[in-house]
Amino acid sequence: MIIVNSILDLRTAISAWKQSGLSVALVPTMGNLHAGHLKLVNSAKQKADKVVVSIFVNPTQFGVNEDFSSYPRTEQEDQLKLATENADLLFLPAITDIYSANTLTAVNVTGLSDIYCGASRPGHFSGVATIVCKLFNLVQPDIAVFGLKDFQQFTVIKTMVRDLNIPIELIGVDTQREENGLAMSSRNNYLTDLERQLAPQLYQALGIAQSAILVGQHSYADIEQQVLQTLKNAGFIPDYFAICCSHDLSPATKQDKDIVILAAAKLGTTRLIDNIYFSL
Ligand code: PAJ
Repeated sequence: MIIVNSILDLRTAISAWKQSGLSVALVPTMGNLHAGHLKLVNSAKQKADKVVVSIFVNPTQFGVNEDFSSYPRTEQEDQLKLATENADLLFLPAITDIYSANTLTAVNVTGLSDIYCGASRPGHFSGVATIVCKLFNLVQPDIAVFGLKDFQQFTVIKTMVRDLNIPIELIGVDTQREENGLAMSSRNNYLTDLERQLAPQLYQALGIAQSAILVGQHSYADIEQQVLQTLKNAGFIPDYFAICCSHDLSPATKQDKDIVILAAAKLGTTRLIDNIYFSL
């Protein structure tokens, strides 16, 4: 696996591959890699000749009171895992290579960025869209692979790609879970032992709502309220629990066939997100 820090070295390696007619897939990450990230690398390996993984803890997607400085940085372990997974290139840029002091431009997917996680994390999705757009321009991959665990993030990126005519095929990969159902996340490291025992109930709550929909329970609003109460009783501080149309994340109606249920809730100070998607 080639490891590069500079944009020049990145472009040199990639243009050599492209000149040889090889296809390139990009897997953007913020590091602290777990089996969920490695699943994306594995999918990318199956779709393209060369796989580029980026690790960049992107400051612009963290709010002022969020965990940018304490976000787990585990570069050595990450490198080993990526080499074992046969990634071809690891791009590890410095912040100053990505953002110059006089940056004036940002990408904003309006509307979609202001709901659900965007409502609690103002500016977050603009930071995500901007860094992903930059990485797309730097790597110019044929394919880019993202996890559906961050369903709203995937929808924001899909919308950006459509609206800005970015010629990249997006692949969404199913969520990797612990045996108990908890969606893997770098932020699970913040959970106390007790919180870890409670955390799988977020996924269970999604399953309860899915079952209610599948058996034909009529009011989606009622299902949302019931499950929110269940989460509160279990010790979560829910942020939202929303039954949506999976194409545009609008509130689902009875006409919608493709559904995603989005959930975010805090356990102590740790914010967990998860979702479940299915077709009726
Ligand atoms: P990060 O949280 O490191 O996640 C990198 C990629 O891994 C994202 O596409 C995310 O959806 C996916 N992922 C995380 N946990 C997963 C799981 N349990 N199963 C499957 N995929 C999972 O998401 C980001 O970084 C950043 O916002 C980024 C897109 C890199 C932009 O900075």
